[in-house]
Amino acid sequence: MVLKYQLFINGEWVNSDSGQTFSRFNPADPDEVIGEFQKGNLHDVKKAVDAAEQAFPAWSDMPAPKRAEILFKTAQLLSESKDELSRIMTMEMGKTLVDAGADVQEAINVGLYVAGEGKRLFGYTAPSEKPNKFAMTVRLPIGVAALISPWNFPIAIPAKKVFYALLCGNTAVLKPASDTPLCATKLVECFDKAGTPKGVLNLVTGPGETVGMALIRDNRVRVISFTGHKDTGAAILKEAGLKRVNLEMGGKNPIIVMDDADLKLAVNGVLWGGFETSGQRCTAASRVIVHEKIKGPFETMLVDQASKLKLGNGLDPKINLGPLVNKAAQEKTARYVEIGKNEGAKLLIGGNVPKNLKGYFFEPTIFTDCRVSMRIAQEEIFGPVISIFSARNLNEAIEIANSVEYGLSSSIYTNNINNAFVAINKLQAGLTYVNSATIGAESQLPFGGMKHSGNTREDGPEGIREFTELKTVYVDYSGKLQKAYID
Ligand code: UN1
Repeated sequence: MVLKYQLFINGEWVNSDSGQTFSRFNPADPDEVIGEFQKGNLHDVKKAVDAAEQAFPAWSDMPAPKRAEILFKTAQLLSESKDELSRIMTMEMGKTLVDAGADVQEAINVGLYVAGEGKRLFGYTAPSEKPNKFAMTVRLPIGVAALISPWNFPIAIPAKKVFYALLCGNTAVLKPASDTPLCATKLVECFDKAGTPKGVLNLVTGPGETVGMALIRDNRVRVISFTGHKDTGAAILKEAGLKRVNLEMGGKNPIIVMDDADLKLAVNGVLWGGFETSGQRCTAASRVIVHEKIKGPFETMLVDQASKLKLGNGLDPKINLGPLVNKAAQEKTARYVEIGKNEGAKLLIGGNVPKNLKGYFFEPTIFTDCRVSMRIAQEEIFGPVISIFSARNLNEAIEIANSVEYGLSSSIYTNNINNAFVAINKLQAGLTYVNSATIGAESQLPFGGMKHSGNTREDGPEGIREFTELKTVYVDYSGKLQKAYID
């Protein structure tokens, strides 16, 4: 029997006003139905925003340390359900169990970190220019938040958006990606069970063009947090008017491998960064820029290791790569492989849909002799495809690295400290890793990109900024009129 799931509005699990549902299938075995979900519509969005608006005064008045207690409990519940959530995630979107476990663990760690922030939410003081006058800042909530989350981190990303938004005293409507509504439902269940008051967190599943856009256009929504494709981000910016908009978008993340690098370490990093989550990370290493002196041996080692990777259902612990999230993703990856071949890139390994597997799999694929003008060198594929470039020196490598519109993550493998610091300084990216791959950002530090990768930073102290208004307060206790810049 296929289980049917509901929307969560004002503390109640309810059917959509549309009377319509949609199904989600296991991408490793599309015959297996994961569940039936509500196809939300404009009325559902209105009700959810009504609920969030009504819940806002009491929730924002609750002292932050008290709000944090509920969030702490949510993190505990996530921790208790880690194995179950990981299995659900693997079945819903294809990640290997280990990868799914990391996703849930990230959500738990964010919850614990954010709960601690409940006792901080720091403002600061500064000396006034006037005598007997006190000057300080305080952080205040913004209002109703629209949280629009992607499928590739189906617990960690919605969880972090909800944890930060709620801790700061906002109320929220979560609209998860339609490929992973079950993970989002399970996440919201944890917030509910932990005692989140009704209306503080609402869940509306359904199409982005209707549910997402209705949320963005609703003038009672004051802050938007979106992670996903840059074209959707650009459309959101157009529609959002004067609301605060926080965007996390794609990447075309480079790893530079210098001639002084530990080659084995670099090969392992490239495989991890390029193929973990089957390349479906905005931080995935999709470009590798190799010093010409070591290009031959580096490629031989890389291809040898890549040929050993096993594709299959992520529930099997021997598997390294699960399927892509859906058929469209598989077709898109196949299309880019054709584009790469036609552009003259040399295929070293992979490039095909494996014949013996039923789901939406794609072989780990490596192109070499790529040029920056190629589409496979510029566009985000979001599949297991790596493009290799050759560079004569560090400056040329950095130039190639910076030759894209994106700027999320980046990495350099080198044992020369000067090379490392030049790269740290010059790579146009929100994250730079030294001797480590482009993925696996830790949630207590800021996360986000430059250029078309985004306009904000999530996580750590910056995550608080994303969801608060900063108020400046002057208290004049001189008992007389003091005129700024005049007296
Ligand atoms: C994303 O793919 O949207 O650094 C985020 C990482 C993860 C986050 C990826 N912690 O790879």
